[in-house]
Amino acid sequence: MRIIAIANQKGGCGKTTTAINLSSSLALKGQRVLLIDFDPQAHATMGLNVMPSDLEKCIYDVITPKQDEEVILDEILIPIKDTFDLAPSNITLSLLEQELTGLKGREDRLYNAIQGLVAEYDYVIIDCPPSIGHLCFNALRAADEVIIPIDMSLFSLRGVAKLTEIILMLNEKLEREIMSRALITMYDARTRYSETVLEKVKDEFEKHVFETVIRYNIRLRESVDFGQPVGDYDRHAIGHIDYENLADELIRSDAADTYNSLKPKGSAHDILQKTEDFIESGYRHVSTEYGYAEKEDTAYYSSGSSYSDMIEAIAANPSAYSFSDPEDNY
Ligand SMILES: Nc1ncnc2c1ncn2[C@@H]1O[C@H](COP(=O)(O)OP(=O)(O)OP(=O)(O)O)[C@@H](O)[C@H]1O
Ligand SMILES: [Mg+2]
Repeated sequence: MRIIAIANQKGGCGKTTTAINLSSSLALKGQRVLLIDFDPQAHATMGLNVMPSDLEKCIYDVITPKQDEEVILDEILIPIKDTFDLAPSNITLSLLEQELTGLKGREDRLYNAIQGLVAEYDYVIIDCPPSIGHLCFNALRAADEVIIPIDMSLFSLRGVAKLTEIILMLNEKLEREIMSRALITMYDARTRYSETVLEKVKDEFEKHVFETVIRYNIRLRESVDFGQPVGDYDRHAIGHIDYENLADELIRSDAADTYNSLKPKGSAHDILQKTEDFIESGYRHVSTEYGYAEKEDTAYYSSGSSYSDMIEAIAANPSAYSFSDPEDNY
C-alpha cells in the first residue's frame, strides 16, 4: 500500500483536482484506491458529489480524541466507483486544530487510522488543506510519499520551500525519508513565459519533479461542478489525459529502481535547496524578463480557510509548535 499526501500550503494550486483525478485514473487502471479528504473545506468530498452536511460520520469522527465510542476508518467509507472509495470530510474537521493541541501522539492519529484499515488498498491518497497545522502534520506523518502541486507562481514555490522544511523535520524525527516530488499544474503552453519557467523548473528539480505536466484545462473546473472526476465528465478532455499519464508515471515509479533512486537521503533536502536557489535567481530572472509581478493571493486566504492566520504563525516557527514536548515519542 502506497500512502501519498498531496500537499502545498499555497491555496488553489491544484491539490484537490489532483487528488480526485489521480485517484480516479488509478482506479480506472485497476488499482484499489482510497481518497481521504483531509481538508475541512471538503472540496474533494463535494467534487465527488457527496454533500458534507448530509454526512452522519466523516474523517473527523475517526481522528478526534473526543470519541464516546471508537470510530474506525472503515466505518465512514463511501464507495465512489469500482475500486475507488472516499473517506469524506466536513467542516467539523477544523475542530481538530484545537482538539489535538497538547495531546500526546497528536501527529500519529491519521497514521494509526490508516494502519488499522481492514479494507485493502493499493493507494491511499490524502488531500491536504492549504495550511500547516495538525492536519497537515498528520497527513505527512502518515505518508510515504508527498506530491507537491506547483502552479508555477512564486507563492506556490514558497509553499514548496516551507513544506519541504517540515518534511525534513519529520524525516529527522521519524528517522525515515518521505519521498517528495513536485507536480506542475495549470500549465499554459500558449505563453512563452510558462514555457521558460517550465524549462527552468525541470532543470532545477530534475528527478524531483514529475515528467507529466498537468495543463490548464477548463474541463477540470467544470467537472467539479458536476461532482465527477474529469474522465467521467469528458473522457477526451486534456485534463483527463494528463491525469491518466500521471497515474501511469506513478505506477511506473513503484518499480524498485526509480523508487530507490528517489528515496535515498535528501529528496526533501534537495527540493528545499533547489527551490530556494530557484526563487532567488532563476524565477526572479524569468519574471522580470517577461514583466510579471506577482501579488499574494490575499482574496483567497481571507475567504478561504479560517485558520490561515494561525497557520502562518505555525509555519514561521514550526519547531516551537510541534515537536518540543519531550514526552512525545518524536
Ligand atoms: N489544470 C487545471 N486547469 C484549470 N483549472 C484548474 C486546474 N487545476 C485546478 N484548477 C481549478 O483551480 C481551482 C483551484 O484548484 P484546487 O481546488 O484543485 O486547488 P487546491 O490546491 O486544492 O485549493 P485549496 O488550497 O483551496 O485546497 C479550482 O477551481 C480548480 O477547478
Ligand atoms: Mg483543495
